[in-house]
Amino acid sequence: MANKAIQAILTRVSCREYNEKKVSLGKLNQILEAGKYAPSGKFRQIANITCVRTKAKIERLRELLKEQFGRECLYGANTVVLVHGPRDDAFTVQDCSCVLENIFVAANALKVQSCWINQFDELFLTPKGMKMKERLGIPAENRLVGAAILGYAKDPSKLVVKERKADFISIK
Ligand SMILES: Cc1cc2nc3c(=O)[nH]c(=O)nc-3n(C[C@H](O)[C@H](O)[C@H](O)COP(=O)(O)O)c2cc1C
Repeated sequence: MANKAIQAILTRVSCREYNEKKVSLGKLNQILEAGKYAPSGKFRQIANITCVRTKAKIERLRELLKEQFGRECLYGANTVVLVHGPRDDAFTVQDCSCVLENIFVAANALKVQSCWINQFDELFLTPKGMKMKERLGIPAENRLVGAAILGYAKDPSKLVVKERKADFISIK
């Protein structure tokens, strides 16, 4: 695998067990910048990134998720990147998903592990979740398309790329 960009795509895996080490601001800024430069439908840039890394806020998110879903949803990660956009816009899911994928690939290129976390929209529709959404400065009308947790694997040997189905691609 010669090309570094392709390599970062092909070796990305979801990590579900993190150690305490925090991603440096230098790396985090590069990762978020990669998200910012994702394509957007008609270049309207309707997606927004809210990055949470204050200990108290991360703990509150962890607590609320546990209360709502009955399990640890953040896998010990201490950086959460929330990606959101207007709920009623036809391009919100597409634009936010492009942002998220750029974040995952950029993180991997910088040897930072990641995983998509999907529970935030549902959480932010609950009364306690709504308060937290407001505390984070996310507009009430925004849909949380997804979140990227970032950090470092507790056990890097568990980071194995899953094989894809054989008929994934067809070229006609
Ligand atoms: C839309 C979407 C939602 C996902 N939600 C979660 C989630 O809530 N929790 C989780 O642990 N992984 C989540 N994942 C990660 C997938 O489970 C993972 O990408 C898939 O199993 C393939 O593994 P890989 O990422 O290691 O290639 C999500 C992925 C996508 C694209």
